Amino acid sequence: MRFLGFVLLLAAAVYSAPNNGGDRYHHRAQSTLSRNSLPLPKNSGENTAAFWYHEAQESLKQRLQNFQNIKTAKNVIMFLGDGLSIPTLGAARTLLGQRQGRTGEESKLAVESFPGVGLSKTYCVDAQIADSACSATAYLTGVKANIGTIGVTSDVLRDNCAAATNPDYMVDSIAVWALADGRDAGLVTTTRVTHASPSGVYAHTADREWESDADVIEAGCEGGQWDIARQLVHGFPGNQLKVILGGGRQEFLPNTTIDEEGKHGHRLDGRNLIEDWHLDKTQKNQKSTYVWNREQLLTASEDGYLLGLFEDTHMRYHLEPESADEPSLAEMTEAAINRLSQNPDGYFLFVEGGRIDHGHHANYIHLALDETLEFNKAIALAANITGDDTLIVVTADHAHVMAYSGYSQRGNDILGLSDDVDDDEVPYLTLSYTNGPGYRDHTDNGIRVDVSEELDKKSIWFRATAEVPLESETHGGDDVAVFARGPQHHVFTGVYEQSQLPHLMAYAACIGPGRHACDDVD
Ligand SMILES: *[C@@H]1O[C@H](CO)[C@@H](O)[C@H](O)[C@H]1NC(C)=O
Ligand SMILES: *[C@@H]1O[C@H](CO)[C@@H](O)[C@H](O)[C@H]1NC(C)=O
Ligand SMILES: [Zn+2]
Repeated sequence: MRFLGFVLLLAAAVYSAPNNGGDRYHHRAQSTLSRNSLPLPKNSGENTAAFWYHEAQESLKQRLQNFQNIKTAKNVIMFLGDGLSIPTLGAARTLLGQRQGRTGEESKLAVESFPGVGLSKTYCVDAQIADSACSATAYLTGVKANIGTIGVTSDVLRDNCAAATNPDYMVDSIAVWALADGRDAGLVTTTRVTHASPSGVYAHTADREWESDADVIEAGCEGGQWDIARQLVHGFPGNQLKVILGGGRQEFLPNTTIDEEGKHGHRLDGRNLIEDWHLDKTQKNQKSTYVWNREQLLTASEDGYLLGLFEDTHMRYHLEPESADEPSLAEMTEAAINRLSQNPDGYFLFVEGGRIDHGHHANYIHLALDETLEFNKAIALAANITGDDTLIVVTADHAHVMAYSGYSQRGNDILGLSDDVDDDEVPYLTLSYTNGPGYRDHTDNGIRVDVSEELDKKSIWFRATAEVPLESETHGGDDVAVFARGPQHHVFTGVYEQSQLPHLMAYAACIGPGRHACDDVD
């Protein structure tokens, strides 16, 4: 009896824990609205077991059909969501559904139909948490490197200009492997084409910031390493890339030259690399087309080489009104695929959704998620217009520190407040950050600031709250997802080093060093 009494007492203690019921670890949302007064979720059928049984069985059928694909890949398209953490995928999926008037959580991103799924470990040789340079080196050359460096082994420390010119330390990207096999290669990004991620396709540098010669001079490395833009136009494999689309005109033009939109170039060596690029193709008897706005891209002829630079710096966020005269990521991806598909031997294409990362760094949740949905559109389009001879791999370079939290009701506005409030009864956001410029000072009596009014303005420039004040939010060290569809998708299953990715893609495509799928066929 005494024992039973003790157990009951203990149970009572647990159930009378603070925070209006539930157990002490999982309080219920403290919404001022009664949950029962909110409309029911709009997705009919979810109340039945049959709905979930059917959903599971359909999915199982698909997965059994797609268990393996032992073809070899003629084409490889790598989609890189810069900073596309797993919580970002979940939140973007919810936003996608909410924009369509649904609860949202149940909607699907294009990658959710991809049969191969894995996790990649993103740390770099000298860094616990990756930047986009060392990670680009890993997922494009197959070798882990030091933070800030691109296309070189970890014998090169960041900013060591002498070491970076040593050919022994340079590593080739999968674009080189594709070109060596007679295939074509290209890159598409929403950032400057000389930014860290796309540079991994073609550059070797001790510092990602050396995008024009002015940056190299400033670092005191003049006369050594070429700047990244010059490597893209005059180096190999940059000068062989069939398609180059993104932003960054400033790195190509002299500081005395004004571009099509009235902006000064950054170069001090007097080179006009856009003219150099034309000249190089003309000397090779190749057709070359340069475009700088959306209209020109959509009407460009589909033969020869294509260079598109749509901004002086990064392209605009898709939600900025000024993005109207710039192509979308999906439009650039389509133009690249159409052009590269003309090579009967196939191609390697790198496509970056580069501004997901920038949205996160500024704690701009709406922009980070919208850029993710633009990335999603480009993936859906590529999956739609390519056949089963094309391997599509989608991944991220590193995570971010955005959390998706609380106990909100199904269908709660993903960009808004949680149903819950904190211990001082101040509302909090469903999406918030560990650090960044969205930090707010607490009120005079030490409680958090209520951001409800700011949020009501519905600005795309609203910064979500952050715990630690920092000018720029940081990357996260968590693993990122890898999704694969097409030939050899099953080799992308598992948890592995990020640097394995080019080896796996090369295996599927039978290019580059190492083992090839086409040799493994009985
Ligand atoms: C270009 O750069 C040079 C060297 O730094 C400087 O003297 C000159 O004023 C710059 N010109 C313009 C138009 O910014
Ligand atoms: C995929 O192709 C179909 C048929 O051509 C088209 O109706 C659909 O809009 C396409 N979807 C995307 C995402 O491009
Ligand atoms: Zn970043």
